[in-house]
Amino acid sequence: MAPKPEAQSTGTIGDIMVPRVARVRHSRLDGPDTWTLDLDDETFSAGSYVPGQFNMMMAFGVGEVPISMSGDPSKPDLIHTVRAVGAVSAALTQLKPGDVLGLRGPFGVGWPMAEMDGRDVVIVAGGVGLAPLRSLIYHLINERERYGDIAILYGTRSPDDILYRDELENWRGRFDLEVDVTVDHAAGPWHGHVGVVTTLIPHATFDPLNTIALTCGPEIMMRFTIAALKDAGVADEAIYLSMERSMKCAVGFCGHCQFGPVFVCRDGPVFRYDRVRSLLPVKEL
Ligand SMILES: Cc1cc2nc3c(=O)[nH]c(=O)nc-3n(C[C@H](O)[C@H](O)[C@H](O)COP(=O)(O)OP(=O)(O)OC[C@H]3O[C@@H](n4cnc5c(N)ncnc54)[C@H](O)[C@@H]3O)c2cc1C
Ligand code: FES
Repeated sequence: MAPKPEAQSTGTIGDIMVPRVARVRHSRLDGPDTWTLDLDDETFSAGSYVPGQFNMMMAFGVGEVPISMSGDPSKPDLIHTVRAVGAVSAALTQLKPGDVLGLRGPFGVGWPMAEMDGRDVVIVAGGVGLAPLRSLIYHLINERERYGDIAILYGTRSPDDILYRDELENWRGRFDLEVDVTVDHAAGPWHGHVGVVTTLIPHATFDPLNTIALTCGPEIMMRFTIAALKDAGVADEAIYLSMERSMKCAVGFCGHCQFGPVFVCRDGPVFRYDRVRSLLPVKEL
């Protein structure tokens, strides 16, 4: 069964701003500087978020950052994958089993689950952008018969940076998924593609007139991905992207994540491309 799209935080602004306490059950190194945390959160249950939604994760005494759910949405496990890029994300990756952290969420608008029914699905991920898409991939696999061809195209800097390596190998071993990985630079025993992720798009199997395409990664990568999808014949209305902006309240209150007339926390982070096309050149304030 698809997760319920209405899964959103409720309550007053005061309630929503107060983090609940969760505990780390397990943590696993999933790439350089990147850890996947399995959390014990007593408010969490299977189906309580839509893939693409995020939580605000608080490292006590350091700060709070938005991080997407990256687990299987049909399972009662709350999973987040965090890359250490600054003070807060580094503190989160250093948490050990038994340590506590603060959580608010789930927040935001996730991937368009209903739109994908009966259509081909093309997923284009860059770097840690695979994390917000992993929940969606689990869902597509769980309900495989509902979709047409599925292509998962992943690009990262080097073979050492590949996230979820074991899962990518498992997914690639299935007959009902197309999985292609490319790296920007390769040294040593790498026999796969070398080049940016957009070079994989012309080789993927999908009917551009019956496809939903989803992308997440650095903004420059998403811009080139969108151009390549359009060259392949995918309409603007069939392309969705997950935007990244720094956040404070996460509920459309403080204006920190404002992106033209929309707030990324409340109206996104997933947007249909034609709705934000004119805003994409707008830099973060
Ligand atoms: C909706 C949403 C979902 C997200 N989901 C995830 C997720 O699942 N996993 C995850 O690891 N991150 C995710 N992020 C990004 C994450 O929120 C940021 O990496 C985090 O806020 C950085 O905070 P910081 O205090 O650690 O670093 P900061 O002090 O804010 O930044 C330190 C330095 O790193 C740079 N920086 C900031 N963010 C990034 C980045 N993403 N990549 C490279 N350099 C960066 C900054 O420009 C700065 O130079 C998500 C962001 C949003 C908006
Ligand atoms: S983070 Fe406050 S409005 Fe989006």
